[in-house]
Amino acid sequence: MAVESQVVPRAPGAVPLLGHALKLWRDPLGFLGSLRASGELVRVDLGTMPMYVATSARVVNEVTVKQARNMEKGRLFDRVRPLVGNGLANSGGETHRKHRRLMQPMFHQQRIAGYASIMSERALALTESWTPGQEIAVEQVMSEYTIETLAETMFSADLGRPAVEAVRRNFPIILKNMLIRAASPKFLDRLPIRPNREFDAAASRMREVIDEVIASTRKSGQTDQPDLLSVLLSARDADTGEALTDTEVRDQIVTILFAGTETTASTLAWAFHELARHPEVEKQLVAEIDEVVGDRPVTAGDIPRLPAIRRVLDETIRLYGVTMLMRRTTTEVELGGFTIPAGAEVAFSLYALHRDPELFDEPDRFDPDRWLPERKAGLGRDEYVPFGAGNRKCIGDAFSWTEASIVLATVLRRWKLRPVPGHTPKAAASAMAHPDHVPMTVLPRDA
Ligand code: HEM
Repeated sequence: MAVESQVVPRAPGAVPLLGHALKLWRDPLGFLGSLRASGELVRVDLGTMPMYVATSARVVNEVTVKQARNMEKGRLFDRVRPLVGNGLANSGGETHRKHRRLMQPMFHQQRIAGYASIMSERALALTESWTPGQEIAVEQVMSEYTIETLAETMFSADLGRPAVEAVRRNFPIILKNMLIRAASPKFLDRLPIRPNREFDAAASRMREVIDEVIASTRKSGQTDQPDLLSVLLSARDADTGEALTDTEVRDQIVTILFAGTETTASTLAWAFHELARHPEVEKQLVAEIDEVVGDRPVTAGDIPRLPAIRRVLDETIRLYGVTMLMRRTTTEVELGGFTIPAGAEVAFSLYALHRDPELFDEPDRFDPDRWLPERKAGLGRDEYVPFGAGNRKCIGDAFSWTEASIVLATVLRRWKLRPVPGHTPKAAASAMAHPDHVPMTVLPRDA
């Protein structure tokens, strides 16, 4: 029952004109985490625009599942529209359903088993390129690995070097400015301030490069490859027989590149950082890898037999998950017992949810053993949702688990990564709570 006479509690600390925007800009992770103290649904003001933040598993589930049909994607997604257009993460209604159905086969288990051999080969080549004592920027190495692996698995050779290079150069700029854009009051929208300019320039460079790839693939007539680009280029609408437009194809490609690289790369960089700080956990992993995989390349079939790796990934993604997601109500809805009008912006933070002390003991501590079957038994299905839930749940979850497991198993079998003294990685909020910089030294496993 909605409590119509009650108003949604407002987060403390709003200032005139900007509301809570400065707080969100300055310390998004801290601010989003602080909101649960004000209630399960909390009002935050972005300038003069109210945004309702769901802070409990129950209300996040209402937003993503129970009320999903009364929600469209919100302002955060509007802000990345110049980049990803109406790709899968941004579109709604029938378009979303149609495109999701079209792309789903590329993420089926069988396909992923095929991608696993590419992931494994690339991971092996990466570890073989390292020399003892070499210093690497782990976040950068992992970002290059995930971009190139995605390009090779989803787009075979078609996407080409220039596109991979463009993604590598422009994505960090886009990610850095994305959350700031979403959190900015409306009157800053059109100002030529640096975050807007940088974002727009990087987004348009990305689009140009992908457009060229599409045009040259169409021209060459090579649309029968077993990859996503071919699936998109050769798709025909079941009712009308119409093909996707070049813009629709481009939007899907940029979306997949955007959604599928930083997320996994950031998880891997944090995992290596945490393992170096917890050598006893690392030792368990190495013993498991020795026993299950040994010296051969890791296969998709190995992954279910690596439960210690799974626990480490679960724990890493719990601690450093997706910063903030948004929806907009399409009709009046009830959320957390309140009535929210149509057209309202609603947000939730998986990062904050997964650090809720009500759900996780000592929530800020890295403790992979909390995922042992006996210890995780009390956790509800809605309380750990790193890939979201409902009809907008991540399409790439199995892809990402396979990739991250393969990289960990391949690297740890051969190398020990240890932090270069003098820098402690800090979580910077973009799509994920990704690490600013993770410099590490590569040491032989047996050293
Ligand atoms: C650690 C890795 C990853 C995490 C934590 C993650 C997380 C998420 C989350 C939470 C959503 C739901 C967004 C919402 O509810 O608004 C999502 C959606 C999505 N993700 Fe992922 N993701 C990861 C990896 C990937 C990969 C590898 C791909 C592609 C290869 C991918 C592609 C997508 C797409 C296309 C959507 C939109 C789905 C839709 O709306 O139908 N993600 N992801």
